[in-house]
Amino acid sequence: MVYELKNPVTKTLITNLRDQRTDAIRFRHTIAELTKQLVYEALKEFPLVEKKVTTWQGENSFTSLDEKNIIVTTVLRAGMPMLDSVMELLPNVTAGFLAMKRDEVTHKSKLYYDRLPDCKGKTILLVDPMLATGGSMNDAIELIKSREPKRIIALNIIGSPEGIELIQSTHKDVDIYITQIDEGLSADKFIMPGLGDAGDRAYNTL
Ligand code: PRP
Repeated sequence: MVYELKNPVTKTLITNLRDQRTDAIRFRHTIAELTKQLVYEALKEFPLVEKKVTTWQGENSFTSLDEKNIIVTTVLRAGMPMLDSVMELLPNVTAGFLAMKRDEVTHKSKLYYDRLPDCKGKTILLVDPMLATGGSMNDAIELIKSREPKRIIALNIIGSPEGIELIQSTHKDVDIYITQIDEGLSADKFIMPGLGDAGDRAYNTL
């Protein structure tokens, strides 16, 4: 399942991301805000558990997300502002890290760091702002699946139809929540019209 956010506020923030005058700090903040919008949508049906809370009137029980069953995992480095954003919203979820670098010539991603916590039976929020060819996301999903999670939900800011099609065809059980599906890929596999390289934009390495 692919769910693209349609809210006018979402689209305004994406236009701000495309704007080259948006500096690194505003870029990261905007990615973080869009991530929160994705989390609200992606966890809409997530079960609630009872949580004991000491209130101003003493102890009582209220509903809450079962954060200990959620792992947010990012693909470094462009995914960092998204991971931070999920953990600002849900501070008790667990974080996992993968690092992949897309080869500029072959356009294939290569895993060089794996710091996933125990994924067995957990819901994984896999966050990466860019879904271009889908290669990085595909590799990340395959790796996470080998750790037996209950479910993987992908959260992306911007994606190409080609990348989305790859994930949908190879991993039908993975739901994708995305803020913007763009027109396609350029010859050198950049999302068009896209917003450039999200890692470079976020961390001033242009
Ligand atoms: C970008 C992005 C994704 C990947 C998407 O990372 O963050 O991980 O490319 O491309 P794909 O769908 O074709 O695999 P990049 O390799 O540029 O590294 P960075 O995050 O360090 O900038």
